[in-house]
Amino acid sequence: MVTTNPRENEPPPTGRDAPRTFKALHACPDRRGPCYATRVSRLLDECFAANRRWADAAVASDPKFFSRLEALQSPDLLWIGCSDSRVPANEILGRAPGELFVHRNVANVVEHTDVNCLSVLQYAVDVLKVKHVVVVGHYGCGGVRAAMTSQRLGLIDNWLRHIRDVHLWHRDELTAITDPDARCDRLAELNVEHQVANVCHTTIVQDAWQRGQAVTIHGWIYSLADGLLRDLGAVVSSPDQIPPEYRLF
Ligand code: CO
Repeated sequence: MVTTNPRENEPPPTGRDAPRTFKALHACPDRRGPCYATRVSRLLDECFAANRRWADAAVASDPKFFSRLEALQSPDLLWIGCSDSRVPANEILGRAPGELFVHRNVANVVEHTDVNCLSVLQYAVDVLKVKHVVVVGHYGCGGVRAAMTSQRLGLIDNWLRHIRDVHLWHRDELTAITDPDARCDRLAELNVEHQVANVCHTTIVQDAWQRGQAVTIHGWIYSLADGLLRDLGAVVSSPDQIPPEYRLF
């Protein structure tokens, strides 16, 4: 039996319908001109040059630095913080590579079904056996601020819906704060407290507690103004501290 391709005699697709090869995807004509391309190239060159200097300096001060890290990481703390470029986890805590496990997203949200965040938490607790999980918000958080306005930013508005929930739950307290910056900072604090609770409500943390593994969840907030962390006092280390509605054992 002879099979024929019904499209055999059609002209090859062009424009948007044309098949895009790997090469075609990367051969994007740059209509912004050679100056733009040169600037980007220089930026990337600087990134690689800085990386080389950093790696060389690390080996100069400790010749076995990378070989030791390659063999093992043993962080005792998981940091769940904001993606904000001004809140670099390792630098703030003065911790070297290998000493801190990190998950960051916009406005440090721990959402019940976020497989990304839950996977980081599960690996940190079950495999790395971290002793502490810290949820770290920060004052002046753009994500929190955006969640307090009616301005549309795009897809991220769906993510920031979680912050809007926190805003609604604490509407009376927040409305009483007249200064918009202070109101935003208070919502950032309340958001941390709710995300600490969300960490505690996961099967991951409750399973650890049930088998007798010590894990303590903390809520901290960072100030861009002075570079200091504040402990919000949200410290949870036992299922007795969470509402019975969320208890899994
Ligand atoms: Co932020």
